[in-house]
Amino acid sequence: MARGLGKRYLSGGQQFWVFRGLCLEVEAGEMVCVWGPSGSGKTTLLSLLAGLERPTEGTVHLSGVRVSHLSEARSADLRRRHLGFVFQFFYLLPNLTAVENIALPLVLAGQSAVALPRARALARRLGLGDRCASYPAQLSGGEQQRVAIGRALINEPTVLMADEPAGNLDAASATVVLDILRGQTAEGRAVLVASHNTRIADLADRVVDLGVS
Ligand SMILES: Nc1ncnc2c1ncn2[C@@H]1O[C@H](COP(=O)(O)OP(=O)(O)O)[C@@H](O)[C@H]1O
Ligand SMILES: [Mg+2]
Repeated sequence: MARGLGKRYLSGGQQFWVFRGLCLEVEAGEMVCVWGPSGSGKTTLLSLLAGLERPTEGTVHLSGVRVSHLSEARSADLRRRHLGFVFQFFYLLPNLTAVENIALPLVLAGQSAVALPRARALARRLGLGDRCASYPAQLSGGEQQRVAIGRALINEPTVLMADEPAGNLDAASATVVLDILRGQTAEGRAVLVASHNTRIADLADRVVDLGVS
């Protein structure tokens, strides 16, 4: 998935490498935890692997396609077809209901006719059956997280990425969310989770340690 990956940023007039020479392969049906303290580069790594950002050096393949060198439009198209990404702060649309947020990627892909029925079925599987008509502001943190996961899963992606999915949740909500993420491997998905939470590291098949920054 990643070969010789490096990302350099400029900060206060100084160039610095977040990481360099990173190689990573994630198989279908496998859950990998990207581990490291705050500032170690977890979000940067997921963004590169998702094709949301370009590496300074090295290559990234997503579902067999070299995403690191694609145009913005092609990379977005590849993500739509193969990747589900759960952002740390969810980015749900406040004026759409839970089920409409989940359905949104299908609507944008021109599949409006099937979008809402599929989103409702997925919401039920995520334990959100009775929350479909609620707006994000009316939902708990755990429920919002599950809506964000639903939106990431509606296109049935081959790869699911989640950035600090338990970061803002109480222990009980985190358990529900982690069960859902872990369960995706049984569906044949590759699951990549950035976290500094020992429960997630224990749950993963493998841990990639970014170390101290
Ligand atoms: N766009 C950016 N420009 C400059 N520095 C950045 C940028 N994004 C992240 N960084 C820096 O890169 C390092 C890694 O950040 P990040 O990937 O967000 O770490 P983590 O997610 O593990 O907390 C940090 O030192 C951060 O300040
Ligand atoms: Mg981060």
